[in-house]
Amino acid sequence: MIRGMRRVRAGGTDIAVHVQGEGPALLFVHGFPFDHALWRHQLKTFPGWRRIAPDLRGVGSSGVPTEGYSMARYADDLVDVLDALDVAAAVVCGLSMGGYVLFELLRRHLPRVRAAILCDTRAEADTEEGRRGRDEMIALARSGGAGAVADRMLPTLLAADTRAERPEVEGQVREMIERTPVVGLVGALQAMRDRVDSTPLLADLRLPVLVLAGASDGITTPESGLALAEKIKGARFATVAGAGHLPPLEQPFVTTRLIADFLKTVF
Ligand code: MLT
Repeated sequence: MIRGMRRVRAGGTDIAVHVQGEGPALLFVHGFPFDHALWRHQLKTFPGWRRIAPDLRGVGSSGVPTEGYSMARYADDLVDVLDALDVAAAVVCGLSMGGYVLFELLRRHLPRVRAAILCDTRAEADTEEGRRGRDEMIALARSGGAGAVADRMLPTLLAADTRAERPEVEGQVREMIERTPVVGLVGALQAMRDRVDSTPLLADLRLPVLVLAGASDGITTPESGLALAEKIKGARFATVAGAGHLPPLEQPFVTTRLIADFLKTVF
């Protein structure tokens, strides 16, 4: 298949997967509360790579089970996706919550990951305050729906440069959030709240790693991205100027170039 959407049966539900191009596999894992469209620009680039961007369970065109959301479940779903596409191992690029899922892949299914790109993410679990924030957001999603979650999150997601120079990006992000079912939002928030600390994994990682951070990301700051890279032997670190929490959408050209440069150095 060169281009299209497939449905893969995984853990009792259907996962929608967008696949484009031929070559070694490059798997893109979106963050919260987004879907595969976070990678809309990257899906169209990277000639010579098979680009794979699923909608995690509960979002986009994937099935929306009422319960059972966890980082382990999301990671196991991705393995079912790789199996269905006959991919033994992929370069995996995860943004924010997608990074939490990538850590779970590294913990549970290490041989399936050829290299890791950790974008605007962190290895630590939530703090007590963070967990309380998840419960508040769950309550907000249940009472006000996805629109209320969008209103709450949008002011923190994008860089000032993005709002000024690429105003269409805010609309794209709002659209992604607003089409997410409340059950999927709540499931992801519970999964993030309950995730374990992945810091103990870092010192023993022996695979190529790139850590990327939006230079104006106030959610996972560039300083925390650098600290993450410093804990992984041989990891590269780069910032994306003019981007907040969502570099692939805010600065697609630069983000794609940084990923492509990394791929060239490791393959
Ligand atoms: C994300 O973009 O996936 C979220 O900001 C992650 C989080 O809330 O921890």
